[in-house]
Amino acid sequence: MSKDTLTIVDNRTGKSYEVPITHGTIKAIDLRKIKVDAEDFGLMSYDPAFTNTASCQSKVSFIDGDKGILRYRGYPIEELAERSTYLETAYLVLFGELPSKKQLEQWTFNITHHTMLHENVKKFIDGFHHDAHPMGMLVSTVAALSTFYPDAKNITDKNCRLLQTYRLIGKMPTLAAFAYRHSVGTPYAYPDNDLSYTGNFLNMLFKMTEIRYKPDPVLERALDVLFILHADHEQNCSANAMRSVGSSHVDPYSAIAAATAALYGPLHGGANEAVLRMLKQIGDIKNVPSFVKSVKEGHGRLMGFGHRVYKNYDPRAKIIKTLADQVFEVTGRNPLLDIALELEKIALSDDYFISRKLYPNVDFYSGLIYQAMGFPVDMFPVLFAIPRTSGWLAQWAEMLEDPEQKIARPRQVYLGHDVRGYVPLVERKA
Ligand code: CMC
Repeated sequence: MSKDTLTIVDNRTGKSYEVPITHGTIKAIDLRKIKVDAEDFGLMSYDPAFTNTASCQSKVSFIDGDKGILRYRGYPIEELAERSTYLETAYLVLFGELPSKKQLEQWTFNITHHTMLHENVKKFIDGFHHDAHPMGMLVSTVAALSTFYPDAKNITDKNCRLLQTYRLIGKMPTLAAFAYRHSVGTPYAYPDNDLSYTGNFLNMLFKMTEIRYKPDPVLERALDVLFILHADHEQNCSANAMRSVGSSHVDPYSAIAAATAALYGPLHGGANEAVLRMLKQIGDIKNVPSFVKSVKEGHGRLMGFGHRVYKNYDPRAKIIKTLADQVFEVTGRNPLLDIALELEKIALSDDYFISRKLYPNVDFYSGLIYQAMGFPVDMFPVLFAIPRTSGWLAQWAEMLEDPEQKIARPRQVYLGHDVRGYVPLVERKA
């Protein structure tokens, strides 16, 4: 008769242990009882970069990397991208269900009425160098918001958490837009409550002398779809940072700053920026084969390719590729598209990439759309951080409410020196 347990035989001692299997996992702490003798600390599992370790139980998003599936709260990403809006999706991600009409109106109202920043925030932004990277500005200013809302420390109070959720989802676009306006030297444009979430963001970025900014509906919707695609992605590097930093019970602004910093890296949300720089560096279709050759020889990576979980295709990349055509009809074709298409064609037929299951990911085409829409390259990771805020907050709330969670504190395998005596400076060898 089959049993949901695992029997482990320790060949060092000949002893056998039975540990329960739940949801296809064993608990690492169950290994602790496996000891050579009473003095022994007990067995640990070793998993650098968490390649085979579940750090939590979650109900937010689901990925099947082999089948190329992504779902938020059970809903396929393709359906949400086609039929939902970012704010509705954010509600779903955060609260687990699609909102009723009334709930959506209330939610939209609350987000819209938390988009303003304290005027002093502008002074921080003014202090940055004109060429400061907007992600650096975003990380710093979102952390600074914790000083404006000391009540946010009250993380066990659900209503208080909800208020910070409105504030963070409402204010991230404003911080991002102000950072952008600072870098181009134009005056800050304030939120317009009559516009949609993405329409208002475009307003705060691009409004010039006109009385009322009117976003292009195709671009407004395209950005909304991109925001839907970026809302959550289970236990990625920044979600893990959010949970890990949040597990110390710090306020959510500080935890979001940590998550945003994690996202900044070129292996994570900074990849969209790196893709664009790579395409510019390649410069011409004729240079694609030699570029691919140099990647295969170990000189750098093909940015926008590969994923820790997706080993077939990234469903977000598929949606973005279609979206690109709609955007280019309005903006004109991005000349780098041809290089990207050629790169994809060559990589997908090359054994190096096929054998390693490297496919275009979400970042491969998103940058081309952002650039065509008029965003400077260093704004790309910021465009990832804004929508991911809802996912981070959902992961954070889930972590706080999970009775099994504690402060995140991994173990290590110490391989350094054993104890040794201090050597005075004069006695040390050169
Ligand atoms: N170009 C060339 N080779 C690659 C690439 C790439 N983009 N990605 C992985 N490889 C190779 C890697 O060198 C290794 O080869 P070998 O077995 O010969 O040593 C093999 O594939 C496995 O790579 P890995 O580093 O063990 O894979 P990982 O799961 O740790 O890394 C990744 C995943 C996304 C960090 C990596 O694929 C990468 O660096 N991609 C480029 C950056 C990128 O596009 N990041 C965006 C990810 S999607 C957005 C997000 O959610 O963050």
